[in-house]
Amino acid sequence: MNKIQMKTPLVEMDGDEMTRILWQRIKEELILPFVDLKSEYYDLGLPNRDATADQVTIDAALATKKYGVAVKCATITPNAQRMEEYQLHEMWKSPNGTIRAMLDGTVFRSPILIDAVHPAVRSWEKPITIARHAYGDIYKNVEIRTQEPGRCELVFTGESGNKITKLVQELDGPGVFQGVHNKEASIRSFANAVFTYALSVKQDVWFGAKDTISKTYDGAFKEIMAEVFEDYKERFEEAGITYFYTLIDDAIARVIRSKGGFIWACKNYDGDVMSDMVATAFGSLAMMTSVLVSPDGVYEYEASHGTVTRHYYRYLKGEKTSTNPMATIFAWTGALKKRSEMDGIKELEHFAETLEKSCLNVLNSGIMTKDLVMLADPACVTKEVLTEDFLRDIRQELEKNL
Ligand SMILES: NC(=O)c1ccc[n+]([C@@H]2O[C@H](COP(=O)([O-])OP(=O)(O)OC[C@H]3O[C@@H](n4cnc5c(N)ncnc54)[C@H](O)[C@@H]3O)[C@@H](O)[C@H]2O)c1
Repeated sequence: MNKIQMKTPLVEMDGDEMTRILWQRIKEELILPFVDLKSEYYDLGLPNRDATADQVTIDAALATKKYGVAVKCATITPNAQRMEEYQLHEMWKSPNGTIRAMLDGTVFRSPILIDAVHPAVRSWEKPITIARHAYGDIYKNVEIRTQEPGRCELVFTGESGNKITKLVQELDGPGVFQGVHNKEASIRSFANAVFTYALSVKQDVWFGAKDTISKTYDGAFKEIMAEVFEDYKERFEEAGITYFYTLIDDAIARVIRSKGGFIWACKNYDGDVMSDMVATAFGSLAMMTSVLVSPDGVYEYEASHGTVTRHYYRYLKGEKTSTNPMATIFAWTGALKKRSEMDGIKELEHFAETLEKSCLNVLNSGIMTKDLVMLADPACVTKEVLTEDFLRDIRQELEKNL
């Protein structure tokens, strides 16, 4: 069989622990036999990040900007315990944080749905994608806790020397205070990333904030989103999709009553909280995909979950594990589809779509990894499998469907 040829390299970022093992197996079993993979490989595994003083992460982000599409394996974000475990020179920053900052990107997370796992919310029929604005608000706050009566003021000093002072509160006893900020440029980037992504997947966008209470701060989010949308309005109309703003409390009530199938753009905190709620209600972290989109249309695909450390330690002891490869496979298919769309390679698009369909066929036939067996309707489960058997079943199904 002739392998599918690619034109532009895909930026490939390898990672850590069990997902690094999965990465290799997915490539060997499901990609390399069918695609003459053109990739620019960056090893973001923790040992290599340490050896290159994290330069490899920066190089990978620069390559992503250059070529436009990347696929990334889960990576360890070091903490004190990892410093010791890997004898690190430094506590390197989260690679995802570095890449997100360099691409000025927004993260979109969507669940993969299967028949056997019913969402906890009965009305949800289609995936809900959460787009989280990942800059500022309480994540870059300053806080004060006081022990005596007094007054707290908010003071802005402009470069021109202009001063604005507002009384936050005068307290007759101990209290707590918080100062938060955001940047217009960041909100604008977020809006552009959200509307660009919505056009690429042809889904409506919902956005909620609390502008009735926070008239200036949340009001700015509402205004900027609406302003940026003006540039997209015609293209949205052509694509038959809409942008809908409502108060955050109303948005939540509507999301719960909805059928799904849209992008829910969230402020930083709302996105943090709601993405876990949506992920859990749809089923499993192992079935959540994630894509980072920059406002100028650069895409980086990955699984939402981490490196599955517990399984890796068992793997090191020679045990076989039932690790779910779905989100990592879908990161590959997402990246290959985007590459094929940019380069006009129909066969590659067909391959990626067939691979996705084959994975779903295997799952919908009742063959699944342990994490899904525990969530699934027991009537829908025929066999619990180890990762390698699962990948082999998918390969057989893929060969049948191609
Ligand atoms: N995107 C990323 O690169 C990313 C995201 C989160 C965590 N991490 C890193 O991953 C490491 C482990 O973190 P964690 O344990 O909090 O998160 P994790 O996602 O690896 O695991 C959380 C839980 O979900 C289960 N799980 C996750 N994915 C699974 C899969 N594919 N199949 C079966 N079960 C699965 C795990 O067994 C565990 O119980 C940490 O070092 C962290 O820094 C990386």
